[in-house]
Amino acid sequence: MTRRILVTSALPNANGAIHIGHLLEHIQTDIWVRFQRMRGHQVSYVCADDTHGTATMLKAEEEGVTPEQLIEKIRVEHAEDFRHFLVEHDNYYSTHSEENRHFAELIFNRLKDRSLIFTREVQQLYDPERKMFLADRFVKGECPRCKTPDQYGDNCEACGATYDATDLGNPRSLISGATPALSKSEHYFFDLPQYTNMLKDWTTSGAVSAQVANKLAEWLDSGLKPWDISRDAPYFGFLIPGTTDKYFYVWMDAPIGYMASFQNLVDQGNTLSFDDYWLPENSSEVHHFIGKDIINFHALFWPAVLDGAGFRKPTRIHTHGFVTVEGRKMSKSRGTAINASTYLAHLEPEYLRYYYATKLNGSVDDIDINLDDFVQRVNSDLVGKIVNIASRCSGFINKQFDGLLADRVDDPELWDRFVVAEGELAGYYEAGETSKVVREVSALADLANQYIARHEPWKLVKQEDQRERVQLVCSQAVNMFRALLVYLKPVLPKMVQAAEKLLNIEPLRWEDAAAPLLSHKINRYESLITRLDRKTVDQLIEASKVPDAGASAESSNEADPEVAANATQNPFISIDDFNKVELKVAQIVNAELVEGADKLLALTLDLGDQQRQVFSGIREAYDPADLVGKLTVVVSNLAPRKMRFGVSEGMVLAAGPGGKDIFLIAPDTGAQPGMIVR
Ligand code: MSP
Ligand code: ZN
Repeated sequence: MTRRILVTSALPNANGAIHIGHLLEHIQTDIWVRFQRMRGHQVSYVCADDTHGTATMLKAEEEGVTPEQLIEKIRVEHAEDFRHFLVEHDNYYSTHSEENRHFAELIFNRLKDRSLIFTREVQQLYDPERKMFLADRFVKGECPRCKTPDQYGDNCEACGATYDATDLGNPRSLISGATPALSKSEHYFFDLPQYTNMLKDWTTSGAVSAQVANKLAEWLDSGLKPWDISRDAPYFGFLIPGTTDKYFYVWMDAPIGYMASFQNLVDQGNTLSFDDYWLPENSSEVHHFIGKDIINFHALFWPAVLDGAGFRKPTRIHTHGFVTVEGRKMSKSRGTAINASTYLAHLEPEYLRYYYATKLNGSVDDIDINLDDFVQRVNSDLVGKIVNIASRCSGFINKQFDGLLADRVDDPELWDRFVVAEGELAGYYEAGETSKVVREVSALADLANQYIARHEPWKLVKQEDQRERVQLVCSQAVNMFRALLVYLKPVLPKMVQAAEKLLNIEPLRWEDAAAPLLSHKINRYESLITRLDRKTVDQLIEASKVPDAGASAESSNEADPEVAANATQNPFISIDDFNKVELKVAQIVNAELVEGADKLLALTLDLGDQQRQVFSGIREAYDPADLVGKLTVVVSNLAPRKMRFGVSEGMVLAAGPGGKDIFLIAPDTGAQPGMIVR
């Protein structure tokens, strides 16, 4: 059955260049799209630039152009960058389009008709000079907790406190430098809490991975709040119908941009129909590919808005982690915030496509680019193992047999392993687990290389009576190579296209892996891909360095500053965050009830070199007497906390639903108090 699939990547912000972080997402999406197309499904892949918001307005002003001029210039650059990385969008549009205005208004009006929109007064800091309200990222001042100056309006970089911009000491506007004052304005809200139950069902129905569903469950369980969807003038965006100075918040019309880009594609003349994809109860699919920082917008707001406006909900949200380089966040000063155009000036796009494919595994774990590993993977796996099969064998076919392949398969059993791998590999592609695809292909390439080494065609060719064997062995090798081309084609479209020319065949389809090429004439071999030189990689890093990039530019995701302020920040911690947690084995030397606290136990812990008092909420699960002498794991570097009953100097780890909590270490494991747990 042919599936009809609409696929999107998140819309890049129109205020900066495409970098390797965006590329991860578009390459991941493109691989999935190409795989589906090879399988014969009907796929539309659309994207656009996300253009609205204060940041665009300010940047255009800075550059002395209109926002429209700015965003069109950037849109063209973005589309070019992606095209060079072989990302095949069917349409790369803009959220600042008539289609998008139409759908934003339509959706808003429908939500309003169904009483899902209400207004409420909001107090916010206001810049009296610029005459505009200030989002948290446009205000700086003194942290209300630790008093460090120069902190943004949402959280403190020094002590980690989160607060409201109105709590800052000595606030100043980053736009004019003026002292902002509190002011009131009416905002429009979408009544998200009404959708709590729908979202609980939807998020656990397979629309997101289990990992993401767990994160969403935390948000759903702690209670959703109405969502503020308006911003006051001046703003670059769409006016809210019926108002003269209220605009849709950029995150309201951004996902609607998926629809608008698709509508624009439909209007370009083809057999597509908008309704086939967006009305509820239809058999087509909608897949969004996004980064983990924007999960809440896509898996909470967006499905609720769609549902409220009478449209279908997405089939699946595919979520990836963040790109890091050498284990650290991308950084301009270290030269690891690599732009697409800088990369292209130094390296082949397919090296990066291949490397990302070796890493993607369907989870939200961060994707680290280790530069040595990058070079190694490309050179030893791709060039040394896979392409090597063809370069070792096709020459003999060309020279000795005028390019003609044998009329039968030499080792049917071995060949069969290449054929049957198809089902498993298709499953991996479907699930976004390309790391497994690459691993399996690499294992098959090992088999092919072993076969060649076993038969030594370079020796056979010297023996007159072995001519036929040479043809059979080399033909088998060429056929095994061809099967691997099929399996890697979504990842390496350009290299495979060049190989198709060499093999003198039509563009490979997925099912072609099943049938070997027999008595077929191939063309002369030419090099398909060159080795990657570490020196060139170093030059790329050098060229990417922005010497004066200060701490504030050390961000891997230059999201709209307003988004950063409004989004529930990155819901996952990095391995670096985790490494900050010091875990030690502790022996419970005393445990007693706490007067006036029916959930707590006061524990005295022996950490080897010291004793600590910790209050732990595990009373329901344990009789204090049973705990004495037991070992547990304690977070030993947690800042002491003053509680009503005394100071707690750490935290005991326990997990479970209550009533049957589990301590992490049993008494008989040989662990000693004070041991570091890793
Ligand atoms: N404009 C919004 C998306 C709106 S979708 C309706 C946005 N733009 S963005 O330019 O900041 O990011 C676009 C996509 O790139 C997001 O999915 C984001 O997660 C992804 N990435 C941005 N930096 C990234 C990395 N360093 N690594 C991986 N992906 C990253 O968010
Ligand atoms: Zn602080």
